[in-house]
Amino acid sequence: MAYPLLGIQEIDEQHKALVENLQQLQAWRSKGHGYSAALNAFLSLGQYVQSHFRDEEAFMERHDFPELEEHKIHHQQLVTKLQTIEQHVMSGDDITDEMMALLSQWLIEHIGGDDMKIATYLRSVASPA
Ligand SMILES: [Fe+2]
Ligand SMILES: [Fe+2]
Repeated sequence: MAYPLLGIQEIDEQHKALVENLQQLQAWRSKGHGYSAALNAFLSLGQYVQSHFRDEEAFMERHDFPELEEHKIHHQQLVTKLQTIEQHVMSGDDITDEMMALLSQWLIEHIGGDDMKIATYLRSVASPA
């Protein structure tokens, strides 16, 4: 699964782990390990996403990123969407292909959009025009 690289090592490493979590979940599903294995992989993905968002917000704060508040709101919106899916899954619904597609789409779009702005900002501060 391709995801955009920011050129910021600590964030890129977490994005890599995040994508690996997604792939792990996909693998549990396709191997037919059953509901509980997929559920565990799903819950650990959710936890990883939240801890990544906290770290990324701390990073933006350390670097005085001007769009921190907006970025935080987008993180919160993603968490809310994730939790909505989580509630379905916790109540016994299967993790569907559609859910998987949405999850990867949201995360990859966020990395390529909002997260990429952090990299652009850091470059502009390092070498002001
Ligand atoms: Fe991120
Ligand atoms: Fe982000």
